Amino acid sequence: MLKVEGLSKRFGGLVAVDDLSFEVPRKTVLGLIGINGSGKSTVMNCISGLYRSDSGRVTLGGKDITRKTSHDIARHGLGRTFQVPRLFHRMTLVENLLTTVLDSRRKNAELVEQAEAILDSVELHGLRHDHGEELSGGQQKLLELARVMMFDPDMILLDEPFAGVNPSLCRLLIERIQALLGEGKTFLLISHDLTSIYRLSDHIVVLNQGRKIAEGGVEDIKNDPQVIEAYLGTEAYDG
Ligand SMILES: Nc1ncnc2c1ncn2[C@@H]1O[C@H](COP(=O)(O)OP(=O)(O)O)[C@@H](O)[C@H]1O
Ligand SMILES: [Mg+2]
Repeated sequence: MLKVEGLSKRFGGLVAVDDLSFEVPRKTVLGLIGINGSGKSTVMNCISGLYRSDSGRVTLGGKDITRKTSHDIARHGLGRTFQVPRLFHRMTLVENLLTTVLDSRRKNAELVEQAEAILDSVELHGLRHDHGEELSGGQQKLLELARVMMFDPDMILLDEPFAGVNPSLCRLLIERIQALLGEGKTFLLISHDLTSIYRLSDHIVVLNQGRKIAEGGVEDIKNDPQVIEAYLGTEAYDG
């Protein structure tokens, strides 16, 4: 579904992503892990068109999306959330969902109905007329996922969906992700919460200083000495 080949991104003299390649097969979850600053968000920003990569190629369902704008990439069926939720504080939750609609021909009443059904699925229906600013941090993460669901992408990128989310909202998020997987969606998941990522991922890629240092199934990664060293060698790990 998603293929990244030789992706590199520099910021001045800093190589944030260094010749990274991986693939995410359809209907699977790829977990991208690594300590704070290892380049995870930069990878996601390059894939989704927010940053322009210096080299490499990204294909989505066989189509080259490397030089496309983030809007075009969304139209090609890729949705993403942000590490720091990007919601509209002065709009209601329903209005927040309507801002992501890509097809301007769709009828408003039908869109509102869809938005309300999605808000219900993430247990935010009761707050649908409240403003974004009234949500807790965890609820904001759920709203981010709801906004992505609104345009029904096949490939979904989630940046730190569990960070700062209480255990019951975490469980709800995991359930929603599993339900979307059941509907045939594909995920790239970045998380510093290894418990959740180990639970959800089919395959894991480990980044360190922008480079892939390990890749494999959950059990391989859990026991990989390089991974253990990369994590335990850092005292203040915060994602
Ligand atoms: N827009 C930017 N400008 C300059 N440096 C950046 C920018 N975004 C990220 N970086 C740097 O790139 C490196 C990787 O950052 P990031 O991708 O955010 O890591 P992670 O998500 O794994 O914590 C860090 O050293 C960070 O400071
Ligand atoms: Mg990050």
